[in-house]
Amino acid sequence: MSQIKTIKDVDLKGKKVFVRVDFNVPFDNTGAISDDTRIVAALPTLKYLLDEGASLVLASHLGRPKSKEDKQFSLAPVAKALSEKLGKPVTFVDDCIGEKVKEVCSKMKPGDVVLLENSRFYPEEKKNNPEFAKKLIEDTGAEAFVNDAFGTAHRAHATTAGVAAFVPVKVAGLLIAKELEFLGEKTANPERPFTVILGGSKVSDKITVIDALLDKCDAMLIGGAMAYTFGLALGKNMGDSLVEADKVDLAKAAMEKAKAKGVKFLLPVDNMVAEHIDFANASVSPLKDVKCADGIDNGWSGVDIGPETIELYRKQILGSKTVLWNGPMGIFEIKECAKGTFAIAEAVAESGAISIIGGGDSVKAIKKSGYANKVSFISTGGGATLEFLEGKELPGVAVLDRK
Ligand code: 3PG
Repeated sequence: MSQIKTIKDVDLKGKKVFVRVDFNVPFDNTGAISDDTRIVAALPTLKYLLDEGASLVLASHLGRPKSKEDKQFSLAPVAKALSEKLGKPVTFVDDCIGEKVKEVCSKMKPGDVVLLENSRFYPEEKKNNPEFAKKLIEDTGAEAFVNDAFGTAHRAHATTAGVAAFVPVKVAGLLIAKELEFLGEKTANPERPFTVILGGSKVSDKITVIDALLDKCDAMLIGGAMAYTFGLALGKNMGDSLVEADKVDLAKAAMEKAKAKGVKFLLPVDNMVAEHIDFANASVSPLKDVKCADGIDNGWSGVDIGPETIELYRKQILGSKTVLWNGPMGIFEIKECAKGTFAIAEAVAESGAISIIGGGDSVKAIKKSGYANKVSFISTGGGATLEFLEGKELPGVAVLDRK
């Protein structure tokens, strides 16, 4: 079990608690929240604290506003959505420090919930300015800090890390605890065989993750455009596929490390390739399956793993006891190029293994595939998940009390 203290290890009864959540949710063009996963993910912590009789001052960022005038980044719509989900009023304050905050927070009673305005309306937030962090605690009158914003835990900001210096109690919420359990403990001491599936477009984005996970896993399966840089490293022509020619040495080093460690390292044996990719209309033409041994002809680009690769990867996944998946196998946003990604989602769901979906595009992919409710855990982080898998200590976790 992690050494970080959680809300279950301390007594927060009747206390006013400053809770950092990650309500950085997407909106559609009508201004409605298009994916409320992160709000739903925060509920267990909020409900637990409310049941304990605490009062909650919630803080979050939304997007990357340049100034307070960027009103489209206001958290006001989130307060409404949260209130519906909690089934109780959530008071929104259109600031996060200052007189209004003092006035509302000084009147709070156990069971009350306040949501502060976007912390990034203040440049001091990202600078982790200590005076700003101190004001957040003083003006709200908070007696404890609960960090449950896993998605932002890789940022050393005032609301994610700085505030911890000004309260006697600083602990993790249940979401952070769960993220650390699945991304950390279950991959550090995995039930074996442990298979890692990595996709996405760039080797450069994932090379540190590859390196760290090669120390833990029994098999690594590579897909997505990243696989074409590995193809180059094996001396194959990759046609017009997305490649990072300057990362070939990193790809070679990863393959050598896998060999030295006895990790089964699987690359696609066939690829779906297309001559024209029309992103605007989400279509490709013509599309054909080519063997990787033959390389990819000039004028053609890899867009997905092929059927033989699907079979090969499927077999490996079905024989695994732990599976960690990060990054799609192809351009899954285009229906004709989604087969590989969806087949992997199906295999992960069918495997019965402890299955962990590691953030970002893979989350979109597993949701689109319809198998999201068949996996053990879906990380709510993007950059935070990758940094954690790289083995880095997350600043928002580092400041919390140890057991
Ligand atoms: C995310 O969506 O990954 C987090 O909320 C962090 O947002 P940021 O990349 O703007 O810091």
